[in-house]
Amino acid sequence: MAVEKRREGETIVLRLSNGPVNALSAGNGFVDQIAAAVDEAAGDPACRVIVIAGAGRMFCGGADIGDFDGAPTQVSRVRDVIAAVEACEKPVIMAIHGMALGGGLELAMAGHYRIAQAGSRLGLPEVTLGLLPGAGGTQRLPRLIGAGAALDMMLSGKPVTAEQAASSGLVDRLVDDDVVEAALEVARGAPPLRRTGALPVPVDLAEAVDARRAKLRAGLSQAPARIVDCVAALSDDLAAGLALEARLFGELMRSEASRGLRHAFFGERTVARIPGLAADVRPRDVRRVGVVGGGLMGTGIALALLNAGVPVTMVELRAEALSKAEAAIRKTIQRDVEKGRIGQDAADARMAAFTSATELEALAEADLVIEAVFEDMGVKKQVFSALDAITRPDAILASNTSTLDLDAIAALVADPSRVVGLHFFSPANIMRLLEVVRGRDTAPDVLATAMALGKRIGKVGVVSGVCDGFIGNRMFEEYLRQVYFLLEEGALPQQIDAAMERWGMAMGPCRTMDLAGHDIGWAIRKRRAVEQPDRPYSGVIDRICELGRFGQKSGKGIYVYPDGRTAQTDPEITRLIEDYSAEIGLQRRAIGDEEIVGRCLLALVNEGAHILEEGIAYRPVDIDMIYLHGYGFGRERGGPMFQADLMGLPAVLDRLRALAAGRNGWAWTPAPLIERLAATGGRFGDLDFQDGNAQ
Ligand code: 3HC
Repeated sequence: MAVEKRREGETIVLRLSNGPVNALSAGNGFVDQIAAAVDEAAGDPACRVIVIAGAGRMFCGGADIGDFDGAPTQVSRVRDVIAAVEACEKPVIMAIHGMALGGGLELAMAGHYRIAQAGSRLGLPEVTLGLLPGAGGTQRLPRLIGAGAALDMMLSGKPVTAEQAASSGLVDRLVDDDVVEAALEVARGAPPLRRTGALPVPVDLAEAVDARRAKLRAGLSQAPARIVDCVAALSDDLAAGLALEARLFGELMRSEASRGLRHAFFGERTVARIPGLAADVRPRDVRRVGVVGGGLMGTGIALALLNAGVPVTMVELRAEALSKAEAAIRKTIQRDVEKGRIGQDAADARMAAFTSATELEALAEADLVIEAVFEDMGVKKQVFSALDAITRPDAILASNTSTLDLDAIAALVADPSRVVGLHFFSPANIMRLLEVVRGRDTAPDVLATAMALGKRIGKVGVVSGVCDGFIGNRMFEEYLRQVYFLLEEGALPQQIDAAMERWGMAMGPCRTMDLAGHDIGWAIRKRRAVEQPDRPYSGVIDRICELGRFGQKSGKGIYVYPDGRTAQTDPEITRLIEDYSAEIGLQRRAIGDEEIVGRCLLALVNEGAHILEEGIAYRPVDIDMIYLHGYGFGRERGGPMFQADLMGLPAVLDRLRALAAGRNGWAWTPAPLIERLAATGGRFGDLDFQDGNAQ
């Protein structure tokens, strides 16, 4: 961490250097260093112009998000530096390359002249963290580019290109070559001392504010509304606008939504780190991937790979199924062309990277093979035994199984260390979650390769140990158990779905199961009835399955789908549910949303705690990211384990105990980890992976 200072004639160049993104960290003293360097240059009689640039990959990625959990005064130090830059009596030129985001762009806007390198991107993404630009962005950006354009940038959080920034007036000059050299050239002339904060209020202010306010949607995050409030307050009194912005930023920073979104930001990066992996472990090279199975899953996996430029050889033993898969792949890629997402050249390149065969021998040279055949141990065993003989001994063999024992599959391979699980979620080309299953013998570099491949194809890879259902589906089973109990006790599907969706799930559980199809769940419940007779489910869902109502794909499930897509309440199902309650002698009762949400959430938390204790998940945040990216858990809610921490584990334990004393109390025995943490004042978020991880 340093502010590197270089003198070029009468110009002082200050290069910000603080880790990968030059974050404006107050906690480690970096912001103070910038302040001191600017102050020194401003007072240096031999210095006429100051240039501020970034070292490494970018200008600056913003204020340090990690600071926000500490003292709120950290951000005020960033504001002080920005104010000092704008007030400086010597021209300050901002030389932007790579990225200028959040506080980084706010710093740049306080400069008197901005030069950006072509290809760089500039944005105020604070809204994606449940925040508003809190270091002058709401007051300076509209003055530079107009209120409408500024609101669009701040409300979407999406960066603009340097080219767009140059045409909107956000930057003064666009250059292809070295941006600092260009800044020095400007410095040799007579750079202006134009202060953004002194520019007039834009003329489109009232109209832009009204239009954006009318489009605000209700949600947990208040950030969009507060951004509009700040822009609406724009006046000639810059200080008043900045004071309002600072106050509202502080409120948002403490909000649940921002805390959840920040947890998600860091969580997505944390899950990529495999605890305990030796520093010298390198992922293997993956140049061609084999996909075995041309069903829905295999097709989606092949698409996910091809879309990221990974060559694929698909093997499907049935020629007819293979041509169907190939046609589906071609059609999906072509649809991306029609929708303008990619050009025809890119589509052709994707198809050129695809080869197919009806014999496994075609995979002899693949670096990694993903098996996506029918979910049956006998079938999987056949495929793995064959792959063991055909593939190169250093090729990685991955199974897409969602329920079977990966270690039993690996046992069929002479070297089980090359076997790993890659559990994609359907549709595999769309869903971002990838559970990377580490078997008992999976080699560290095989695990690292699986994670690297996940990243390469744009997935959020999360490592899971081997257990029935892995992390996500194992927890989901407990969630559904409560949903079905709620149905027999008095709730109706539409009420449960509405409660969960209002709370923040992308889709309520009944609609989700209608979409996923009930047949697999039914088969699992039949198996469980034998394996775990002491953990019965409500029979109400089986009654629905017995009618052949397997969900959207059969036209009917818990709901009906007159147009094939939109769920509509079915009086027949309401009657079926009410009759079922009567049949088991249960007096239906009114169940409030709070109970619905509470029970569904606590079921996830309690099972999540077991999973941590058994070492199936490394860290609580791994569970949270699985739920955000695979199960539609609201990003602003951070994830189930994060929610448990917000509630406080003593409160979680009290509720579990109260539920354990009620109907079907056996399902609520508190996980020992929760009891332990509640007793010691601990939080899931403070767990090191060894604390909760048995391995
Ligand atoms: N604060 C703290 N850490 C940050 C950070 C930030 N603003 N931006 C990135 N990092 C960290 C990441 O956590 C990661 O750490 P790790 O290696 O320990 O996991 C490391 O920097 C590298 O980040 P990425 O892996 O994300 O690197 P990429 O090259 O893929 O992406 C990026 C770079 C586009 C800058 C991306 O990191 C990003 O989007 N960062 C956040 C940008 C942002 O939201 N800025 C606004 C911050 S809020 C603000 O400025 C408030 C102000 O208005 C007062």
